[in-house]
Amino acid sequence: MTDFDTVDYFTDPALVPDPHPYYDHLRAKCPVTREPNYGVYAVTGYQEANDVLRDSESFSSCIAVGGPFPPLPFTPEGEDITAQIAAHRTELPMFEHMVTMDPPEHTGARSLLNKLLVPSRLKENEEFMWKLADKQLDEFIDDGKCEFLGAYAKVFTLLVIADLLGVPEAYHEELRINLAGGPTVGSIDKEIVPVNPLEWLDNLFSELISDRRRNPCDDVLTSLAGAKYPDGSTPEVTEVVRTATFLFAAGQETTAKLLGSAMQFLITRPDLQDVLRADRSRIPVFIEETLRMQAPVKSGFRLAKKAVEVGEVPLSAGDLVMVCPGAANRDPRRFENPHEFDLARPNFREHMAFGRGVHTCPGSPLARVEGRVSLERILDRMLDIRADPEKHGSVDDPVFQFEPTFILRGLTELHITYTPQS
Ligand code: HEM
Repeated sequence: MTDFDTVDYFTDPALVPDPHPYYDHLRAKCPVTREPNYGVYAVTGYQEANDVLRDSESFSSCIAVGGPFPPLPFTPEGEDITAQIAAHRTELPMFEHMVTMDPPEHTGARSLLNKLLVPSRLKENEEFMWKLADKQLDEFIDDGKCEFLGAYAKVFTLLVIADLLGVPEAYHEELRINLAGGPTVGSIDKEIVPVNPLEWLDNLFSELISDRRRNPCDDVLTSLAGAKYPDGSTPEVTEVVRTATFLFAAGQETTAKLLGSAMQFLITRPDLQDVLRADRSRIPVFIEETLRMQAPVKSGFRLAKKAVEVGEVPLSAGDLVMVCPGAANRDPRRFENPHEFDLARPNFREHMAFGRGVHTCPGSPLARVEGRVSLERILDRMLDIRADPEKHGSVDDPVFQFEPTFILRGLTELHITYTPQS
């Protein structure tokens, strides 16, 4: 039996299958509780999480991704550590990406996305998704079974971002080989597999963005290459490249996890399959409730820049704070019967899976459409979707493995069977 008062949330595998009893335990003690192993303040309350994420005056995102790992490269001193953060920022992981930046630098980096996430681009991207969903399903649908994450979710989410960024389709197969864990069935081209996939991505975008600056044409890459900071200055090519490549890092795995969780709920609750087949207009609510129940981002971190109070708990400059969206999403003070998957929930949109405040996920409209389009086509083309008992032990009470990480929440594998529909 795990002792919730001493367990190491960051490394103990006992919390991986279901972290919610632990979150509930913490919240019952206090929605802002200092865990004993690293001294991190765990925020499990809805209002408290909201207060932290919206307060970028008091909290820095410089440790947003890794939290206590690695430890801070400096010892916080005094009542305001803003200058210390600035002096050591480049020693922190992922300092070059917008997710760890604070305003005003963050505002500039994020503004480069403005050309991409506009309604007309999102509409074109959705058209691509409808075609891609069928193309992807065509690859394995006749088999009557598949490992859903590898066969569909990871590839679909990767190529949707590639299309959003205007990466020509000629590069899609290469992208897939390098970033989605493998080539199309039957095509094995070892020549183009590089040593480091992210380096390969950086090189690809440097080439494409530099080319569009020299030879502008009427495409998405050209508008990205021409994007300016709010003060009118032109970013370096590397800054545009970072923005582009970070979208893959931020948007692929998270959305693949959303698709995996949605499929998991469909097979463990066949009644939901019936409801959605009978009334497709309920798919968006189903996706929101999936995000609430199983938020793909499990923990996000902030560093207190100065003394601040959260939920009546006083924090000092240099305190580490961990916001757990999955825990906030099941705060009984906000959501009635929080552990129930409920399509009739009146406040289904209030979940915190996409964060809050200046770092709120800019890809949320995209992820939502990816979920809707995928479910529409899956429900059309697969009947009677179930867990594969050979891999998950039982059809009616399947056992799933979750990825052993404190950062994300999602399945390692999801084997399903279904009746193909022509
Ligand atoms: C279900 C899927 C997704 C989930 C649950 C998710 C969740 C999140 C969360 C919680 C944050 C805030 C991090 C923080 O406050 O420190 C975030 C930021 C971000 N997300 Fe997503 N995301 C998803 C999909 C996407 C997609 C599809 C894209 C883009 C194509 C994307 C791009 C980004 C970017 C660029 C940031 C950083 C924003 C900033 O720092 O201002 N995400 N995401």
